[in-house]
Parts: sequence; structure tokens; C-alpha cells
Amino acid sequence: MLLFITFSFQLFRAVKTTHQITTRVLIIGGGAAGLSLALRLAESGRSCTLLAKEALTESASLYAQGGIAAVLDASDSFEAHIKDTLKAGAGLCHEDTVRRVVNNAPGNIEWLRNHGVHFSEDRLSSTGFHLTREGGHSERRVIHAADTTGREVETTLEQLVRNHPLIDILEHFVAIDLITTGKLGISGNNRCIGVYAFDKRRRRVVTIASRTVALATGGAAKVYLYTSNPDTSTGDGIAMAWRAGCRVANMEFVQFHPTCLYHPQAKSFLISEALRGEGAHLVHADGDRFMERHDERLELAPRDVVARAIDFEMKKKGVDNVFLDISHRDPATVREHFPNIYERCLKFGIDITVSPIPVVPAAHYTCGGIVIDAYGHTDIDNLYALGECSFTGLHGANRLASNSLLECLVYSEQAALDICSRDDSSKDDSLNRPGWDESRVTDPDEMVVISHNWDELRRFMWDYVGIVRTTKRLQRAAHRLHLLEEEIREFYSNFTISIDLVELRNLVVVADLIVRSALQREESRGLHYIKNYPDLLPTPRDTIIEP
Ligand code: FAD
Ligand code: SIN
Repeated sequence: MLLFITFSFQLFRAVKTTHQITTRVLIIGGGAAGLSLALRLAESGRSCTLLAKEALTESASLYAQGGIAAVLDASDSFEAHIKDTLKAGAGLCHEDTVRRVVNNAPGNIEWLRNHGVHFSEDRLSSTGFHLTREGGHSERRVIHAADTTGREVETTLEQLVRNHPLIDILEHFVAIDLITTGKLGISGNNRCIGVYAFDKRRRRVVTIASRTVALATGGAAKVYLYTSNPDTSTGDGIAMAWRAGCRVANMEFVQFHPTCLYHPQAKSFLISEALRGEGAHLVHADGDRFMERHDERLELAPRDVVARAIDFEMKKKGVDNVFLDISHRDPATVREHFPNIYERCLKFGIDITVSPIPVVPAAHYTCGGIVIDAYGHTDIDNLYALGECSFTGLHGANRLASNSLLECLVYSEQAALDICSRDDSSKDDSLNRPGWDESRVTDPDEMVVISHNWDELRRFMWDYVGIVRTTKRLQRAAHRLHLLEEEIREFYSNFTISIDLVELRNLVVVADLIVRSALQREESRGLHYIKNYPDLLPTPRDTIIEP
């Protein structure tokens, strides 16, 4: 017992607060992965608590535009979707995972429809739905709700989740760290037994005791200066799992979306790939359609190819952006399919039915993540991960467009089945979860340094670990990261917790994982393009980082 207390003090500092919540299953994240897991559990009679660091649905899922890839038309086939996914993944996809996800896609679209999600219809199509195309897809197979698919999915599931008596919701709670038996020095398999979370409204840390924890915290694109992602994508789940002892894989594969709106007032606004699916051209200011020089699939080449081509063209011409032009299409069709993009661009003075849209690539998706198996199990007992924070092997070296929401849905189904199949009522829940030390001080200078470090990190990640990499730039980033880590460790140990500090601490962990993985990969494959190693190695292998 004495040993146990000593450990607790070392890892969590002096025990001061005792705010505690107890639940059976804790799901962290209110995106597509978290909401669908909560709903599936509740519908199977399992109670759960859903934690989200902002309002429940504020997430990458909410802003998803293009849609969800699924074989729905008789002229399409599972084999074609599998082949496209494997091809985009540049030899690194796990074929068993790809097959499982693709085969389960139509059933999950049905599940969404049965729960009230409305997709855009097309009376002339045999499916009754308008299916769009995106880069790397050989067929029209992306089902969507105009250009606000994520909003339709999130708001529909949100209503069901909010009204379900078996689901408790904790909004504006930021998970800080996992509580594991390993950290507490308890012998046996390392088990997750809860989480420390910051209650933003009451400004205090609570201890959440839970027999099962599921991380559905999304990706880490905020580690880059320019991103399509909302502020929630700070890699918290990946960093928490890593600190707790989970393996993390393929973090070097950061997907840059080719087309984000380039406008000083437009923060993180994506111009969906579906525009290219419906015929938009990538051009320079003089109308030069440059994709002709880069890939025979033109604008519908996979994202890594298109983003690299834009990067190349911008550097060659010394311009700040390129343009996406859909003005040759019928204006009514453009407004019908892309009402959100049309309205948003109009606010910035761009009528997309008559003018080309200024665009640049931006960090969009984290292909790597916490290593899980087919049911979402991580390396730690009772800890699941799903959605963008996880690594399933689906995306390989480059995710195929619209396969991400699909992965969230399929894995929420798998994880829910697994959680429900386990009888957790006999699990010993009497373990003491130490409270959180709130004895630390505040320092007015702290915020300035933290915000400076945020900016510095995101800028050097953009400059040194971006679309085109070199060993020297990666090493430079590694050096800067080392200095930042030291500074943040000191801040974290001495000062009162703030959300910016928690997120910065996580971003630095994730940045380090990206840089370390990138340095390990001595080849150019998919999204990882490094000038020192322009060729492909003969044997594809995952980059797995062990804690
Ligand atoms: P998210 O949707 O990001 O949800 C993460 C949740 O975790 C959020 O609620 C967040 O607040 C919460 N959270 C994070 N950290 C903490 C913490 N520490 N404590 C508490 N809560 C926390 N994919 C497609 O397949 N099709 C598309 O059309 C498409 N379009 C996209 C458009 C945009 C603009 C973006 C950014 C992405 C798009 N993607 C698309 C990718 C896709 O949206 C995401 O990969 C997917 O939504 C991830 O879902 P998720 O549930 O894993 O994470
Ligand atoms: C988009 O609409 O272009 C985004 C689709 C995706 O990221 O899968």
C-alpha cells in the first residue's frame, strides 16, 4: 500500500481534489465515431457517458463535406472499392481491414438512414441517391447530403444521443490523461480505469472512474499552421494513449487536402474534392490547367498526387495560391450540389458559378494513430480507440477520399459489439483513482509563452514537415521539438492546467511522433515524400513506434 501511494504521488503529484464521476463506459469525443458508438451501446442496453471538449458535435465530422464512400450502385463492386483503396494506400493498406470496411459500408449507410440521416437524392439513379466521385475512386460511389454531409450525420445522431436515457453527456470537458493501473504501479496487465478531465465551466479537474474507456478524439491536423480542421483536432487521444503505453503507427502519413479556400478571413474552409468530381479544373491565374503535366487522372488523381502538384506549381511560379474553377458548369447544378461552399465563398466576394476559387493545400487528415485490432482494442486492457485517432491499416500511405467517416461507422459497430459481449459487472471497480493536484501556481507570463510556442510549433511543422520533406528539415524540426518538450514539461509540472497548455503538450507529442516516423521512413511512399529518398523500397512496412 505504501508503495502504491508513493507511486501516485510521483505521477500525479500531491492529491488535493476529490471531484469524481463514475460511469460504466466512457467515450471521449462527439464526432461520427463517438456519437455512433454511444448510440449503438445505448440501443443494446449499455449505459455510457459521452465526453466532448467543446459543444457535443464540434468536431471534424461536423464539417465533413464530400460524403461517405460505399458500394451502392449495381454497376459498382466491392472489389473495385477495395482496389481503389489499396491503390491510393500505395502498398501499405492492410487488405483484411480494407475488405472488412468496404464490405460493411452499405450496411452502415442503411444504419444511418434508419436513424434518420437524409442523403441527396437523384430520381434518375437506380439507387435513388446522387452518388458523387472523388479523387482515386474509379466509380461514382460517394453518398452525400449536398456539401454538408457531416452536419447532417452529426445533427441527426446528436438528437438521438441527447434523448437517449442511457447516455450521459459531459460537454466542455477536456480529457487530460488516462488513468491506468500501469501508471499507478499496480501489477498485472496494464488496464485503463478512467480519465482526468478538465471541466471548463467550473474550472476544475475531475476524476472519471470507468471500467471501459473509448478514445474517439479525432486527428491532429492542428499541429500544422494551415489546416482544414477545426480547433478540436489537437491529437489529444493519440498523445494520451501514447503516454499511457500504447503503440502508435504510421504517423508520417499526414494527408494534405489539395483545396482549402485561400482568403485572409476564411479560417480552415475546405473546398470539397467533390467539386473536382463534378468537373472542376485546377488552374493558374492565366487559366493554365496544370494537372495535365502531373498525372493522367488530372484533377481526380489521389490527394497526395494533387497536393504535391499544387505545391510544385506554387513554388515554380512563386505564387501564393492556385485556382479551382467550376464556372463552366451549369450554375443551378453548382448551387444545388454545393450550397454551403457557394454561400461561404459568396460571403468573401467570390461567386463560384462565374469565378475561379483561390485555393491552397492544407493539413487535413492523420492517417496514422493508435494501433488497434478489428474490434478497436488498443494495447491497454479496457481501452478502445476508433475513428481518426486510431490506426486500423485501412488508409495505408494515403487515405482514399470519403473512407474516413466510413471507418468511424464500421469501427463503432465492431467496438460496440465487443463491449456489449463482455460482462463487465464483475470487474473490480474498487480501485482508488488518485485525485488531481491543484496546488500549482498561475503565472501571468505563462499564457504568452504558451501561445508563442503554439505558433512556433505549427509554423515549423508546416515549413519543415510538410508536403515535401528533406532529412535536414526533419532533423531541424526534431531539434526544435526537443527544446519545446523541455519547456512544456517544466510548465506542466509547475503551473495550473490551462486548455492551451494541455493541447500544446499533446501537439508536441504528436509532432514528435510524426517527425520520428518520417525520419524512420527512408523512401517516398504515398503522402510521405522525402527528397533524400525519392524511390519506393521494395517491401512495404508500417512504421510502428513503441512507447
Ligand atoms: P472528430 O469528428 O474529429 O471528433 C473528435 C471529437 O473528440 C470531438 O468531439 C472533439 O471535441 C473530441 N475531443 C478531442 N479531444 C478531446 C479531449 N481531450 N477531451 C474531450 N473531447 C475531445 N471524411 C470523409 O470520409 N468524408 C468527407 O466528406 C470528409 N470531409 C471532411 C471535411 C473536413 C473539413 C474535414 C476537417 C474532414 C473531413 N473528412 C471527411 C475527414 C473526417 O471528417 C474525419 O476523419 C472524421 O470525421 C473523424 O471523426 P472522429 O469521430 O474520429 O473525430
Ligand atoms: C472533401 O469533401 O473533399 C473531403 C473528403 C474527405 O476528406 O474524405
